[in-house]
Amino acid sequence: MSFQKPKGTQDLLPGTVEKWQALEDKARDICRRFNYKEIRTPIFEHTELFQRGVGDTTDIVEKEMYTFTDKGNRSISLRPEGTAGAVRAYVENKLYGDPDMAKLFYIGPMFRYEQPQAGRYRQFHQFGIEAIGSEDPGIDAEVIAMGYLFYKELGLKNVRVEINSVGTPACRQAYREALQAFFAPVKDKLSKESQSRFDRNPMRILDSKQDQAYCEGAPSILDFLDEECRTHFAKVQQHLTAMGIEFVVNPRMVRGLDYYTHTAFEYKAEGIGSIDTISGGGRYNGLVSQIGGEDKPGVGFGIGLERVLLILDTQQVELPAAKPLDVFLVSLGEQADDELTRLLFELRSEGLLAEKDYQGRKIKGQMKAADRLQARYVAILGDDELARGEIQLKDMAGREQTNIPLADVTAILKDKLN
Ligand code: HAM
Repeated sequence: MSFQKPKGTQDLLPGTVEKWQALEDKARDICRRFNYKEIRTPIFEHTELFQRGVGDTTDIVEKEMYTFTDKGNRSISLRPEGTAGAVRAYVENKLYGDPDMAKLFYIGPMFRYEQPQAGRYRQFHQFGIEAIGSEDPGIDAEVIAMGYLFYKELGLKNVRVEINSVGTPACRQAYREALQAFFAPVKDKLSKESQSRFDRNPMRILDSKQDQAYCEGAPSILDFLDEECRTHFAKVQQHLTAMGIEFVVNPRMVRGLDYYTHTAFEYKAEGIGSIDTISGGGRYNGLVSQIGGEDKPGVGFGIGLERVLLILDTQQVELPAAKPLDVFLVSLGEQADDELTRLLFELRSEGLLAEKDYQGRKIKGQMKAADRLQARYVAILGDDELARGEIQLKDMAGREQTNIPLADVTAILKDKLN
């Protein structure tokens, strides 16, 4: 019997995993510079956290969660996103940190039961940040700038930043009513999905690809913002302009999660089939109190790492591949073999990437293995050399070969490799 991985998951194998490490290194490097600290929360949480946090009427909670009952009869869900868990941890551990805000980041797997396609998986990975504790529009702009810089420094071209304001629940109430009035005459012609959204979440109709024709001329959220929302949104734009970050205001942008207030934003790029949104985020001023904490505002983003890699591939941007070996040790005798065991451990302890043969190969086979592993140096030890206290060192690029004292090989290699 043989097994296959579950639909919508991927094995990340050596050769590819180095690209992941490069993305993760870049994420950590950006977070260090912007002063965000890592947080690691459970991969599963109580289902109710997501029902309350992400929202009962979202696709994520209605259709996409991996939910099960554990042996203690609790309803548990694999996390479909990172914000709810990070905010739960912020509240539970009282990270309120007055007067400083909490600036947090995470990198890890998320789970959504979606129809898999390029750029859409059932287990995927997000690099996310959450800045909790400030209403300052400057922090919205900082968050947007971090995502922008992440893509830019990785070498991604043509990433567009789109922003919108979804206002406060109060502004949205009037907007919902205006949308319902607008769609009411054509309600019967809308797709089943949009019809079911009509009462519960009419803003999501704007998101429906099928119903775009009926969205023509729909009222704009921007006309329903109150003074405070308008000022906040204008300030976010001012800050982005100050940093030289180009953006487009897209009043039709509706994010698929319920917690957003004020700023919503997305990064867009071509290169993954029909998907053009590569990541997104926004402000969530009600979320912390909604899940039982003090009334603290927050803002963050979630960047899907699979989508970054797909676009880097389409744009033929190279990320570091597997590192070649520093040195491969070739043994030509039993006593030499024992000595190489010692030497290999010494080299590795001193920080070199070193390997030897474990297949009992003859010298030719060992040299071939060294080639396959792209070793920069090969050190060859026979029983005769061992008796003389020497070892042969071969530079695989220059092909030059010298005998050096066995006692000095580690120091010599360290020197050459620097
Ligand atoms: P989201 O828009 O649901 O937001 O997801 C953010 C990103 O995660 C997407 O733009 C995409 O890159 C990636 N993503 C989502 N679903 C999949 C999937 N099935 N396969 C591959 N990639 C996927 C959030 O999750 C919010 N928590 C973002 C946020 C943080 N807002 C504020 N703070």
